[in-house]
Amino acid sequence: MKILISEEKIAAKVRSLAKQIRADYQNETPIFVGILKGSFLFMADLIREYGEDCEIDFMAVSSYGNSKKGSGIVRLIKDLHINVNGRHILIIEDIIDTGLTSTYIKQYLKLRKPKSIEFVTLLDKPDTRKVKIDLKYVGFSIPNKFVIGYGLDYAEKYRQLPYIAVCEDEENLE
Ligand code: IMP
Repeated sequence: MKILISEEKIAAKVRSLAKQIRADYQNETPIFVGILKGSFLFMADLIREYGEDCEIDFMAVSSYGNSKKGSGIVRLIKDLHINVNGRHILIIEDIIDTGLTSTYIKQYLKLRKPKSIEFVTLLDKPDTRKVKIDLKYVGFSIPNKFVIGYGLDYAEKYRQLPYIAVCEDEENLE
């Protein structure tokens, strides 16, 4: 398994993203909306580094099934519990690839009339983008490789790894 981003590098990046968010949301109580399942570790580390008043909620959408290739079809599986009307939302993503999932989520959340919506993504694969998307907080831009670890899976495995690695059965891409 080839490690792409070490545990230490992730921790340093999470600290710097949290610092930026703290500076941008002074005297506000933003709602961190984690997109399940991939963002759960990033979200947990990010809000601890953030350290200020905030609320959290989760949404789940499906777009990939058990394969590595995006279908482009996005389906809402779990909705929010918190009322986000008039609130600042930060959508917490593990990785943005085609951008289709995030675009769907943003459109959906806009209907709830929040005060603002911004994305925080640990990883960004700009080369495979299919729709334009404004990303305010990006951890690492990575090449077009399928990655696993730190919450990201391949067929539900490897989420527990503390680092980000390149998935080795790349040739098995369907
Ligand atoms: P998008 O709609 O193509 O931007 O896909 C976003 C979702 O696809 C992410 O939230 C992940 O769940 C999944 N995904 C995209 N690329 C990878 C990867 O390299 N490893 C693991 N999951 C990925």
